[in-house]
Amino acid sequence: MAEEHFEKKLRVLHEISNELSLTPSVHDLCCRAVELGRSRLGFDRMSTWFVDKDPKYIVGSFGVDEKGRIREETEERVAIGGDPVMKQISAEKAHSILCPDVPLRDNSGKAVGQGSHIIAAIWNGKEIVGYLSTDNLLKHVPLTEHDRDFVELFASTFGHLYSLKRTEEELRAAYDRLKEVQDQLVQAAKMEVVGGLASGVAHEVKNPLAIILQGIDYLAKKVKAKDENSHAALMRMRIAVKKANAIIKGLLDFSFTTKLDFTSQDLNEVIEAALLLVSYEIGKYHIEVVKEFKKDIPEVKIDKNKAEQVFINIFLNAINHMPKGGQLTIRTYTTVTDKKMVCADIEDTGPGIPANILDKVFDPFFTTRRGLGGTGLGLTITKSIIEMHKGKITVENKKDGHGVKVSLMFKE
Ligand SMILES: Nc1ncnc2c1ncn2[C@@H]1O[C@H](COP(=O)(O)OP(=O)(O)OP(=O)(O)O)[C@@H](O)[C@H]1O
Ligand SMILES: [Mg+2]
Repeated sequence: MAEEHFEKKLRVLHEISNELSLTPSVHDLCCRAVELGRSRLGFDRMSTWFVDKDPKYIVGSFGVDEKGRIREETEERVAIGGDPVMKQISAEKAHSILCPDVPLRDNSGKAVGQGSHIIAAIWNGKEIVGYLSTDNLLKHVPLTEHDRDFVELFASTFGHLYSLKRTEEELRAAYDRLKEVQDQLVQAAKMEVVGGLASGVAHEVKNPLAIILQGIDYLAKKVKAKDENSHAALMRMRIAVKKANAIIKGLLDFSFTTKLDFTSQDLNEVIEAALLLVSYEIGKYHIEVVKEFKKDIPEVKIDKNKAEQVFINIFLNAINHMPKGGQLTIRTYTTVTDKKMVCADIEDTGPGIPANILDKVFDPFFTTRRGLGGTGLGLTITKSIIEMHKGKITVENKKDGHGVKVSLMFKE
């Protein structure tokens, strides 16, 4: 009879291990193991613990409380040495131990009843990765040597799955990190190629453009009085050449032939100066500017002109995407990552950036405003300037779904 019962339990264990192997994460595996341990294998109170980075300690995972409810116990951490049974198992004197009549305790160590208790090593085939503990506090059915065998088997099945899932998770994290670094390398390589090309082309084109501009100015003076049509044509040429010049200037900035001049600056003041330079556009498109500046913000070592250029680029992007008016919010604050950082968030209430182009906005010459005067260098230059300051920039859609949030971080 007992053998038949054991065999049935083995079949259930097999089914459970199949189900557990499909859980998507270590966290879900641990939770589900306790759920199924109770519902399918008939365990009474149980809990799972894993060996900490410091092997003298174990940390909680999931367990069943004194009322039979499953709870997360990941905040719990105790020394293995405090439990003589666990100590014996950790010394690999046994894989599991049954104590037939002992005080049963809660997580704080307080006795909450008397009964039988089994502790089994969660064994992954190579080492003990944790402990599974079960007792009869809730149903009071005494635990037997058969139960001990079975708990040991379950703990070992669970241990194998646990290690597999952990390795899977570590592998996935490593892959994601690798992918991120690869993307950064590709981006850096692109920038280098474009940077080289840009400076070459810009230098070649800059001087001829200057000569053309001088020529236009000279001719404009000559034909002024006599011929209105010729004068209008020259003015159009002048505007076109100026535009070409602006692009060349952008390319030169991008290729960093210009050196940075670092001085200590108040970021709030830099932002005010940049706002002043786009005040015409702000007025023209009825943009409401909301400033949430942190008072007495620590100074940052930056190139004032370049930093102004960064803010102008971001403000113009925001303004360009709010042609019927909207709100431009600028917030400054400090934060601590691995270093103290001075930050600025710039938010607009425009349409936001479609998800499929979000990862392209920093690409050189990427623009959705080609016919509207966009060159697609604004954010490329912005990012390069921020990187030269060893800062950080992120562009994302706002959580409320209305508009874009650009976050800048400068080192204090
Ligand atoms: N605030 C914003 N709202 C919506 N889309 C934006 C915003 N900022 C940037 N973008 C998108 O990112 C693209 C690239 O921006 P970027 O500033 O590099 O170039 P651009 O504004 O098109 O041209 P320019 O070189 O004149 O700045 C834009 O064309 C636009 O599609
Ligand atoms: Mg732009």
